[in-house]
Amino acid sequence: MSVSAGTAGVTPDPIAAIVFDAQTIAAAVQRLAEAIVRDCAGEPVVLVGVLKGALFLISDLARSLPHTMDVTIDFIVVSSYGNADRSSGEVRLLKDTSASVEGKNVVIVEDIVDNGPTLAYLQRLLGSRNPASLRSCVLLDKPYRRSVDVRIDYTGLTAPDTFIVGYGLDYQEKYRNLPYLARLHDWVFES
Ligand code: IMP
Ligand code: MG
Repeated sequence: MSVSAGTAGVTPDPIAAIVFDAQTIAAAVQRLAEAIVRDCAGEPVVLVGVLKGALFLISDLARSLPHTMDVTIDFIVVSSYGNADRSSGEVRLLKDTSASVEGKNVVIVEDIVDNGPTLAYLQRLLGSRNPASLRSCVLLDKPYRRSVDVRIDYTGLTAPDTFIVGYGLDYQEKYRNLPYLARLHDWVFES
C-alpha cells in the first residue's frame, strides 16, 4: 500500500494508464527466475544488475531464486538516455562491476530493451572478459525500433510501443518508485 499524498486532489495525476500492474510484473519476474533456475541449475551465477533501471527487478528476481542456488549480485551503471525520453544511441559506462566476471556464469539483468545499443554494449563489454557464460534477462522488450541485433535469453513481458515508467524505469529520474508500469500523460513531457 502506498502513502497517499497530502495534496491529493490538488496535484494533477501524471499517470495516464497502468500498462502492467504489480501482480503482472511479479508473475513475469517469477517466470524469469524459473527459466534461470532451469538453465543454470548446479552452477554458481552472478547477476549483474544494470542500474538504475533494474533496481527492483534484480531485487525481486534474486529473492525468487532458491536458497540452494549459488547466487552473487553485482551492479554496473550505464547511461544511455541522458535526460530525454529518446535514446541518444550513445552508451556511457558510469560504474563497472565490483568483481571480475572472468570464468563466471553471468546473467545481465536489464529493465528494458528498446533500440538495443545499451544491451549490445553490455554484452560486448562483459563478453570480452572471458565469462564462462553470458546470458541476458530483460523484464521488458520493446521490439519496434531495434537499431542493432541483440540476443535476449529471458524476456519478461513485451511492452507496448510507448514510453513507460515505474518499477525502476524513469522519466527525468522520476517515477522509478511506482510499484507498477505506467504511461504518462502527454503534458508531463511538455512541462
Ligand atoms: P536502448 O539502448 O535503446 O535499448 O535503451 C535501453 C535503455 O533505455 C533502457 O535501459 C532504459 O533505461 C531506457 N528506456 C528505453 N525505453 C524506455 C521506456 O519506455 N521508459 C523508460 N526508460 C526506457
Ligand atoms: Mg536500463
